[in-house]
Amino acid sequence: MKGLYIILMFAVASCTLCARITPNAYSTSTFDVLTYGAIGDGKTDDSNAFLKAWDDACGTEGTPTLIIPDGKTFMLQPLLFPGPCKPATITIEFKGTIIAPRAVEDWRFRQNKNNTWIKFSRINGFVIIGGGKVDGQGSAWWTKYPKKSDENKRPTAIRFYNCHNLTLNNLTHIDSPRNHISIDDCKYTSISNLHIAAPKDSPNTDGIDIALSTNVLINNSTIETGDDCIAINNGSSYINISSIFCGPGHGISVGSLGKDKMYATVEHVYVKNCTFNETSNGARIKTFEGGYGYARNITYEDIIVVRVKHPVIIDQYYDPKTDIIEQAVNVSDVTFLNIRGTSLGKNAVELNCDNIIGCTNIVLNNINIIRVDGGEAQSVLVIDVRFGRKEDHGSISATAIGMRLEPLDVRTNLLIRLDGPVDLILGTS
Ligand SMILES: *[C@@H]1O[C@H](CO)[C@@H](O)[C@H](O)[C@H]1NC(C)=O
Ligand SMILES: *[C@@H]1O[C@H](CO)[C@@H](O)[C@H](O)[C@H]1NC(C)=O
Ligand SMILES: *[C@@H]1O[C@H](CO)[C@@H](O)[C@H](O)[C@H]1NC(C)=O
Ligand SMILES: *[C@@H]1O[C@H](CO)[C@@H](O)[C@H](O)[C@H]1NC(C)=O
Ligand SMILES: *[C@@H]1O[C@H](CO)[C@@H](O)[C@H](O)[C@H]1NC(C)=O
Ligand SMILES: *[C@@H]1O[C@H](CO)[C@@H](O)[C@H](O)[C@H]1NC(C)=O
Ligand SMILES: *[C@@H]1O[C@H](CO)[C@@H](O)[C@H](O)[C@H]1NC(C)=O
Ligand SMILES: *[C@@H]1O[C@H](CO)[C@@H](O)[C@H](O)[C@H]1NC(C)=O
Ligand SMILES: *[C@@H]1O[C@H](CO)[C@@H](O)[C@H](O)[C@H]1NC(C)=O
Ligand SMILES: *[C@@H]1O[C@H](CO)[C@@H](O)[C@H](O)[C@H]1NC(C)=O
Ligand SMILES: *[C@@H]1O[C@H](CO)[C@@H](O)[C@H](O)[C@H]1NC(C)=O
Repeated sequence: MKGLYIILMFAVASCTLCARITPNAYSTSTFDVLTYGAIGDGKTDDSNAFLKAWDDACGTEGTPTLIIPDGKTFMLQPLLFPGPCKPATITIEFKGTIIAPRAVEDWRFRQNKNNTWIKFSRINGFVIIGGGKVDGQGSAWWTKYPKKSDENKRPTAIRFYNCHNLTLNNLTHIDSPRNHISIDDCKYTSISNLHIAAPKDSPNTDGIDIALSTNVLINNSTIETGDDCIAINNGSSYINISSIFCGPGHGISVGSLGKDKMYATVEHVYVKNCTFNETSNGARIKTFEGGYGYARNITYEDIIVVRVKHPVIIDQYYDPKTDIIEQAVNVSDVTFLNIRGTSLGKNAVELNCDNIIGCTNIVLNNINIIRVDGGEAQSVLVIDVRFGRKEDHGSISATAIGMRLEPLDVRTNLLIRLDGPVDLILGTS
């Protein structure tokens, strides 16, 4: 304790010294976790050093930088890094590795509810860069709670709550117990050059989950996990995603929305130049029966699918329950433009639209997806409308969709190619 005190005094003293040498030194002050007593051997609990360094950086005017140095692995317990901070911008130069406790029993949840490992709260002007690595040590959690339905028992690795003007760049995230990154209630987030990885059979290990947030830009990243590469959830708008390599994983999803008959909205989503490699879904919108609200103005453009099970899918019957409520999240103004590649399943495009609310203004333009196993190509669109009229249509038109999907704007150059017989499924009534 005394040693730490001396180190702290020294840190303060040396900074004062810098400030005297150059008038602006305070604005570039750095706060290295090693100076605060972090060991970085991957075993010692370095939580207190990180918290103290954060307190000082967060309380400093100018443009402070907290440094997590290269070549060290810092073991951290679940932590809350609180704002608001004094400076207009606070930076974490993140070069080393942070690692969660290995065994589930060793996790000590403190201020955090037990749903998060590292939480950043109410920070405006926040930059995290540097090539560092975040290791959530998820495997013990996956073993202890293997079921997807146990999602809530496993913590999210990194959560940003109510952070504005947030930049995450050039980081690696692996093996979260649950989803790797949550963007909750944030405005103006820019995420780029990330690599997120977890085994393809790890449960609920989404890459990035966005909720209640606006103006989120995600680009130039590789995401390979056991669940959605990116999920855009309730309360999100102006989400711009580009140049993502996704796979394995479950694709880039809007939703799931409207669980437990709740109100949910997502709008103004733009996904461009993404590749899905061996994912279960590609471009997906998923809503629960019985919810309400809307998912609208969503575009997926310039997408390559490689051996994807459901390359293009709108599913308003996500995880169906037996009690049917005649209510649904309204899906409208959705464009799938320039989608090409191969499908592992028999369907290229699946529009599983609700019987009552349905999907409105769904544009499919220049879709060219062939079945992996080759064979003769045919136009196929699967519209699985449960409880709807059974109709037999070999081509796609508004009438094929009946009352539930209109108008379906099939513009030029629609080519949905799969082999086998035309497979238009309308549900049994
Ligand atoms: C990522 O961080 C590493 C290590 O700090 C650095 O060498 C590299 O240039 C950075 N890359 C980008 C794209 O910023
Ligand atoms: C988290 O806390 C809740 C109650 O606060 C408890 O029911 C649950 O078992 C805890 N989960 C874990 C993984 O500790
Ligand atoms: C984000 O930053 C811009 C410019 O740096 C500033 O104008 C804006 O007020 C900031 N927004 C928030 C929510 O902090
Ligand atoms: C990603 O977005 C950032 C802005 O946040 C931009 O500076 C960068 O050029 C973009 N990178 C690519 C590869 O589009
Ligand atoms: C995109 O990400 C890759 C891999 O992380 C990196 O090498 C490249 O520099 C990034 N491109 C830009 C424009 O930042
Ligand atoms: C969705 O977000 C809105 C606020 O935008 C909120 O009122 C509603 O309760 C949220 N729904 C769910 C399911 O959380
Ligand atoms: C999305 O972000 C890219 C940069 O990554 C930018 O070029 C493009 O204009 C943005 N699109 C929208 C609709 O905001
Ligand atoms: C499209 O995304 C890939 C990564 O999947 C990237 O290498 C390429 O540069 C991107 N193209 C454009 C035009 O942004
Ligand atoms: C649809 O979303 C885009 C951003 O992806 C936005 O630029 C455009 O204004 C939105 N259109 C409508 C009609 O709101
Ligand atoms: C797609 O994934 C498979 C299996 O994971 C891998 O062998 C292949 O190289 C990947 N393709 C690309 C283009 O990365
Ligand atoms: C769904 O949204 C569309 C587009 O805003 C609208 O035209 C349609 O009436 C809505 N459907 C219902 C049932 O509210």
